Amino acid sequence: MTVSLWGGRFTGGPSDALAALSKSTHFDWRLAPYDLAGSRAHARVLHRAGLLSDEDLEAMLAALGQLLADLGSGEFVALDTDEDVHTALERGLIERAGPEVGGRLRAGRSRNDQVAAQFRMYLRDQARLLGARVLEVVQALVDQAATHPEVAMPGRTHLQHAQPVLLAHHLQAHAWALVRDVERLVDWDQRAAVSPYGSGALAGSSLGLDPQSVAHDLGMPRAVDNSIDGTASRDFAAEFSFVMAMTAVDLSRIAEEVILWATAEFGFVTLDDAFSTGSSIMPQKKNPDVAELARGKAGRLIGDLAGLLATLKGLPLAYNRDLQEDKEPVFDAVDTLEVLLPAVSGMVATLTFHPGRLEELAPQGFSLATDVAEWLVREGVPFRVAHEVAGACVRHCEERGMGLEDLDDAALASISPHLHPGVRSVLTVPGSLASRNAHGGTAPVRVTEQRAHLLKQLARL
Ligand code: ARG
Repeated sequence: MTVSLWGGRFTGGPSDALAALSKSTHFDWRLAPYDLAGSRAHARVLHRAGLLSDEDLEAMLAALGQLLADLGSGEFVALDTDEDVHTALERGLIERAGPEVGGRLRAGRSRNDQVAAQFRMYLRDQARLLGARVLEVVQALVDQAATHPEVAMPGRTHLQHAQPVLLAHHLQAHAWALVRDVERLVDWDQRAAVSPYGSGALAGSSLGLDPQSVAHDLGMPRAVDNSIDGTASRDFAAEFSFVMAMTAVDLSRIAEEVILWATAEFGFVTLDDAFSTGSSIMPQKKNPDVAELARGKAGRLIGDLAGLLATLKGLPLAYNRDLQEDKEPVFDAVDTLEVLLPAVSGMVATLTFHPGRLEELAPQGFSLATDVAEWLVREGVPFRVAHEVAGACVRHCEERGMGLEDLDDAALASISPHLHPGVRSVLTVPGSLASRNAHGGTAPVRVTEQRAHLLKQLARL
């Protein structure tokens, strides 16, 4: 049975070419449960407005229940003649309730308000599911940090040795970024939980239906204040898509480091066999494919966001069919993160760190030079002079192929009268770490506090 939603003024059906172009059931089918929830709420609001009798409501809800069951069992599927999921489900309803009862549901609604509402409902559910997966990555990072509470590593800027930091501090830096991504989802949800039902095609409904009650029925605290905005806006989708892309970018930054850390040159980590791949030709290879795919897929999610924004940028109000293009990029982002996140959390959880290598490199590259300068400042030397003196220490050591910690009393005295043997107290990695003890610093005591704060956030989200 073909159900066309606009028979009256047309003498014939759409051309095959138009039908093929128009079709969206192959991607919007995932909205079906939300369409049916919306239909149940709509049937009830029609009933409350006196537009559906008690018996018709009962018949309608029974038919919608049957349709949901048939959808779940796979008995109800899209036909070639169905334009989109909404049309298909209207056909399914009429097949089950008959044209007399089934045909009453469309009063006071349009696919324009339906699709806008259902897209929000679907994304709200995905936000919860994906947020939980992101927190698993955070947990894996925090667990690795807790396993190595005192291990130092070379902190870098410009990828050059900068200052020693705790491995736990570094790992928790990645964790904070991902926590903010989940916070963004929570925050986004407040703006997304506004129902466009009742907006109709664009101008609202004349049938005395109360959009607020439909919103409440669907678990949303309120309905949109403007029916044009309700049907035409997709900033909720773009904002969601940004959070997906940002999350992927944050994962990609972890991934890039894991790729570097797993090289022979760094030697910081070994990847677990279950989260690495071999080579078909080089028997010795162990490749960081999870991390590389994370890095690669971040590009894809950025593309999804850019594509959606490009779709939106030229659209006049209100609904335009271009908006059908809003779903695939966002669905792609959801599907991509759904497979990526468990792989990344598994990879992080199973990394074996090599503390010996990390600690061996921590003081290299004169990474304690800043500690010399700051020690001088604490001795009362102006920083401009302190910087010069510490630089002279580096030059002295570099010329002689030695480390800062090898400077003897005579060498110190020859470099500057400001220097004395007391400076050696900061020329050790543990001394340097412990001295950075202000809030947010890498001192072990602060990093432990920070972990407690992170765990509190994790429990709250
Ligand atoms: N399938 C469309 C979409 O995804 C909704 C249908 C609205 N069509 C229309 N001709 N008003 O945006």
